[in-house]
Amino acid sequence: MADKKKVLFICLGNICRSPIAEAVFLKTIADNGVADKWEVDSAAIGGWHVGKNPDHRALSTMEKHNLPYDNRARQIKKTDFEHYHYIFGMDKENMSDLKRLAPGGSKAKQLMLGDFDSDAPGKIIRDPYYDEGADGFEQCYVQCVRCCAGFLAKVQKGQV
Ligand code: 4NP
Repeated sequence: MADKKKVLFICLGNICRSPIAEAVFLKTIADNGVADKWEVDSAAIGGWHVGKNPDHRALSTMEKHNLPYDNRARQIKKTDFEHYHYIFGMDKENMSDLKRLAPGGSKAKQLMLGDFDSDAPGKIIRDPYYDEGADGFEQCYVQCVRCCAGFLAKVQKGQV
């Protein structure tokens, strides 16, 4: 069997957006019957929340949409840039951080998840961490659903 495709979702803390993106992508590949062809993980730019579960609002949003999640926050490491084929950031700051952290000659394609949004390509996935309620998390979920579907479709057509 061909090697698995490997994708890593990144955000600043790995407790809000990238866990949601990871859970949504796992569901997307399962629904498309290709779960066994992918390795999926998420990680943080910063180390503040390493070892923690996602923020309670992210977990509630995942529960609401029947997305199982059982991963803990970790920080991105140099070898991720060699191991993964695709590394996704959520906003422009994530993208410049990835560029700064990537060792020379890295294999991974660094992509912004919002660029795969069929409704509004190029839109960032805004950080909902400092919001008072869960609306920003729901918005993140909705964007991730469209972006993950858009990304998988492009991979399957050999366009990315
Ligand atoms: P995330 O949100 O990057 O979507 O996980 C954040 C979580 C924590 C912090 C910032 C953003 N923080 O500064 O602790």
